[in-house]
Amino acid sequence: MKFSLATITLGIAVLPELVSAGFSASCTWDWQDPKYVVATCKRKDGSKLRTRQDMNLCIKNDNGYLVPANNGQAFLTCANTSKVGPSHIDSECDWDEGYVSINLDTFMENQDGYLWCFGHRSAPY
Ligand SMILES: *[C@@H]1O[C@H](CO)[C@@H](O)[C@H](O)[C@H]1NC(C)=O
Repeated sequence: MKFSLATITLGIAVLPELVSAGFSASCTWDWQDPKYVVATCKRKDGSKLRTRQDMNLCIKNDNGYLVPANNGQAFLTCANTSKVGPSHIDSECDWDEGYVSINLDTFMENQDGYLWCFGHRSAPY
């Protein structure tokens, strides 16, 4: 695996954000093919908001593995995706790895009812 300086810098930059991710504690959600998380999330005022996030904005296919990445476009090459457990998805990424998994809670957060990853906000749905 190759790491560019930009990758390492980005990794350090997003680290504080990872601590406060964890959208799944305050949202119910499902996977919608080919690339969406549809979630109903709690807002600060106690109401709920249903939105949809394009996960191509948040994950990349890194040699067959799903990794968090700004505008990673993973689902151009990953398919057969499904929700697994409270916060993971499994997908096949057009490589020899078979099904691979990623924990969306490590990088996606609920900000007052909207899903956020790498500065991208979900849209009402
Ligand atoms: C998805 O599943 C189908 C049927 O098993 C398979 O033919 C296809 O290659 C899979 N897609 C990927 C990207 O692995």
